[in-house]
Amino acid sequence: MNMEDLKVRGEIGHNGEDGRSPARTPPDQVKALIQKAMEAKQRAYCPYSKFRVGAALLVHDGTVFTGCNVENACYGLCLCAERNAMSTAVSEGYRSFMAIAIAGDTDDEFISACGSCRQFMSEFGLNWEVYSSKTDGSYVKSDVSELLPGAFELKLKKNNIGSHIQES
Ligand code: THU
Repeated sequence: MNMEDLKVRGEIGHNGEDGRSPARTPPDQVKALIQKAMEAKQRAYCPYSKFRVGAALLVHDGTVFTGCNVENACYGLCLCAERNAMSTAVSEGYRSFMAIAIAGDTDDEFISACGSCRQFMSEFGLNWEVYSSKTDGSYVKSDVSELLPGAFELKLKKNNIGSHIQES
């Protein structure tokens, strides 16, 4: 089996052929998730970059939350699709994430989650799946831990919590 066949079938990376860890979400469910990310992409508000992104997040009970990028004239306020999807899930009481699919308008490359979104993902665990797609529906899978080795974690010393606040 060659890599081109896998790409056409949208399964590249699904079985660890490319060195990534094997997928845990069944291919049909991944395809449905990518479809939802593509639908969410249609709702992108991106008058500045004109770069549409959609995300679809699968949580532990099978519920899917979607998000799109939402831009602002004050560029620093732009929100990414992935973070919108994750924040929506958390707002609805879900924190146990299984997989997120990301869709953009990239024909030649799998869309890549930005560093901020990778850090945001890591807040909810390192061992869940990120499916980055192309417009033809093909995808690659990475675990969050593969996308952001050495993610920042806030480790407060037990006896130190708030000590700096009490001192001031
Ligand atoms: N964008 C996302 O929605 N997700 C990413 O992971 C990368 C970038 C959006 C933000 C902005 O609206 C546009 O893409 C161009 O950077």
